[in-house]
Amino acid sequence: MAYQEIYQPLHTVIGSGSLAEIPGLAKRIDCKKALVVTDEGLKKIGTLKMVTDVLDKEGVPYETYAEVRPNPTCAMVRAAYKKFTEGGCDYLIALGGGSAMDCSKAVSIMATNGGDVKDYEGVNKSKVKGAPMIAINTTAGTGSEVTLFYIITDEERKVKMAMVDPHCLAYAAVDDPEVMAGMPPSLTAATGMDALTHAIEAYTANGHYPFCDGLALEAIKLIARFLERAVVNGRDMIARENMCWAQYMAGVAFSNAGLGMVHAMAHQLGGFYNMPHGQCNAMLLPHVMEYNKSINKKRYADVGKALGIPIDAMTIDQAADATIKWIVDISKRINIPALKDSKFDPKDVPTLAANAMHDACMAANAIQPAVEDVEATFMAAYNAE
Ligand SMILES: [Fe+2]
Repeated sequence: MAYQEIYQPLHTVIGSGSLAEIPGLAKRIDCKKALVVTDEGLKKIGTLKMVTDVLDKEGVPYETYAEVRPNPTCAMVRAAYKKFTEGGCDYLIALGGGSAMDCSKAVSIMATNGGDVKDYEGVNKSKVKGAPMIAINTTAGTGSEVTLFYIITDEERKVKMAMVDPHCLAYAAVDDPEVMAGMPPSLTAATGMDALTHAIEAYTANGHYPFCDGLALEAIKLIARFLERAVVNGRDMIARENMCWAQYMAGVAFSNAGLGMVHAMAHQLGGFYNMPHGQCNAMLLPHVMEYNKSINKKRYADVGKALGIPIDAMTIDQAADATIKWIVDISKRINIPALKDSKFDPKDVPTLAANAMHDACMAANAIQPAVEDVEATFMAAYNAE
């Protein structure tokens, strides 16, 4: 049996009040000044202040780069890196969902490896560990605070570059549901569906193994019980805290087992139309599951059981179909928009499908599709009721 290396952050703090641990985590590393990387929205709603208040209280020096936007670009990474070097920073505090984390990971790698962000597209392209990063998650979905992936949009080629690199793993991950309480329902829904997609793709990836299977199934159970509650009432702290655990476990699962065709295709929608990542996954997930069903149906039945579907009286085929239907139904209940109502244009399908074939996530899919299969799956999602 081959051996398996497991990747995760060195330290993790999860639960209400976790932000208070940040100065202590910062003091444990031999660094002088942080660059806090976040976005305008989190600055505006006061989440950045929640963090800087904690840093100020303990006298932790920092600079701030608060200009990350969704689907971060090479230009944003270069601007953040400039602030990092000119500000005399030597570690990062990333505050956000996937975008701020991804931008920080890119800066972390450039800080110790030099070069440009584009040099690191692909698998294991950096030579040495990045600058330390404390990753504070503000959404219950991306899992970006735990993963060894980051995604940067190359604005010239209009593609999302996927980087897979253990050197970008966070020194510490912080998941505090208090900072997630202000998330609007649409973002809670989209990021929650992202977490569900992580768990399902990790559980059915061709590289799945027992450690990740356990994490993925428990994450699925929690998402089934608590996602809708968190969407309906953002101040339901029991739901928020359980979604923290779910998305963290799903994050560790997929960071190690890999993802698949949903993410390979979703990255193209995000890169081409700047659509939110979680929504793209939710729109594609049932259609990719339909495509993968012939290989994955037993595992889809396991997913169905974790979702709480009474599968014991069903055949494996019925259970797999019921699981896919459950996903379609919850997406409607939590108001995930339809692909046909988005900026998606069928005439772009050949380009989107060709790029999806080269996405780093596709290799982990249970079936290696032909480009025509990917095109047909985009169209199935577009034509869905
Ligand atoms: Fe994702």
